[in-house]
Amino acid sequence: MAKVILEHVNKSYTGDKGRRVHAVEDACLTIEDREFMVFVGPSGCGKSTTLRMIAGLESISGGSISIDGKIINDIAPKDRDIAMVFQNYALYPHMTVYDNMAFGLQLRSYPRKEIQTRVQEAAQILGLSKEMLARRPKALSGGQRQRVALGRAIVRKPKVFLFDEPLSNLDAKMRVQMRTEISKLHQRLTATMIYVTHDQVEAMTMGDRICLMKDGRIQQVAEPLEIYNNPANMYVAAFIGSPPMNFFAGTLQPRGGKLWFIEKTAGEGKDGFALQVDDAHAAKLADRLDQTLHLGLRPEDILDHAPGAEAPPGQLLRATVELIEEMGAETMFHLKTAAHGFIARLAATPFGGAVPVHPHGGFSATPMEFLARMDRAHFFENADTAAFLRDNGSLDHEKWQAACRKII
Ligand SMILES: Nc1ncnc2c1ncn2[C@@H]1O[C@H](COP(=O)(O)OP(=O)(O)O)[C@@H](O)[C@H]1O
Ligand SMILES: [Mg+2]
Repeated sequence: MAKVILEHVNKSYTGDKGRRVHAVEDACLTIEDREFMVFVGPSGCGKSTTLRMIAGLESISGGSISIDGKIINDIAPKDRDIAMVFQNYALYPHMTVYDNMAFGLQLRSYPRKEIQTRVQEAAQILGLSKEMLARRPKALSGGQRQRVALGRAIVRKPKVFLFDEPLSNLDAKMRVQMRTEISKLHQRLTATMIYVTHDQVEAMTMGDRICLMKDGRIQQVAEPLEIYNNPANMYVAAFIGSPPMNFFAGTLQPRGGKLWFIEKTAGEGKDGFALQVDDAHAAKLADRLDQTLHLGLRPEDILDHAPGAEAPPGQLLRATVELIEEMGAETMFHLKTAAHGFIARLAATPFGGAVPVHPHGGFSATPMEFLARMDRAHFFENADTAAFLRDNGSLDHEKWQAACRKII
């Protein structure tokens, strides 16, 4: 059993010129026994600091962390029954792979036979051959070294595994391979694992749940698809998904008994697009007429529309093409409306192949027609961070989160 609970955990540092740096603020989180929890967020958001407090490598400024009901704030790292794997493998260069894996157990005075059994088990799980166990780290590839670092953690049979961006030093292909290996390892070892990454694809593919952080604050904790389909705010919506969700500022207006989203444009006389809000969303938005808010549409929720074909009412979106990227399995259309740039993720050959990818003399200024899947639309409060900072002096997180909250 290993259930990890963070209650109101804070960490502050004294930074340059005695300024307080609040690296982690009021983190509350329960990581269930055997769960694979991923901490994700941009560089500097407090992921490593949180992980290091769980490991005992950083003191906790406020709040408490417990494992299986026992508060560990003041327990020495070596007594926490935790193993950590870092980005830089931190292997001992003068020791063989075997000794690198055995060392931690030797320090803890495990019997020789037990050490041998555990190292061999770990080597087998990780596909490290007998011959490889006799090598020094410098005679291994990056992927193999990372496997040894994993092995060193596995032999300890800890209650909790902590990973801090363990794949960042590997090339793209090796990263994908190791990603699946760590996921399989989790299934096999049925241990609690906490994994830090800045890569939203790793978070989506590996996590049982994702804890998304920004500026030392937890923004949302949820299963991957829940976070993708139902992001708590605009920041989360923009962080998860590649290409990211498209956002359009606009207002809601009644027309012909229905609710419409009217794109906001800067210039007088510049026509913004109008999209009909579908009935399921409209009920929750009816009291927001004339307020500025943001419509969010994922790139895959914008479809191509063959010229002349009949369009469902209120879903037609006209935009000019700025760039086309052919990915093989799909095609990214970079588009522009009167006021917003956005991306549509279309099939390999959209519009029946009628659109030239590299037109002589640039793309046509005549708008093309797309369909917006309004049944899959998201609506967010209107947070303009720049304006928000101007009005409030500094960024108050609760206010900011409320200002870009998802409405529906
Ligand atoms: N020892 C330290 N002294 C002062 N500031 C620190 C220290 N360690 C981390 N920080 C600051 O705390 C914040 C969070 O850092 P970190 O947890 O390493 O972020 P992440 O792992 O998400 O990239 C950053 O602003 C960083 O500069
Ligand atoms: Mg980090």
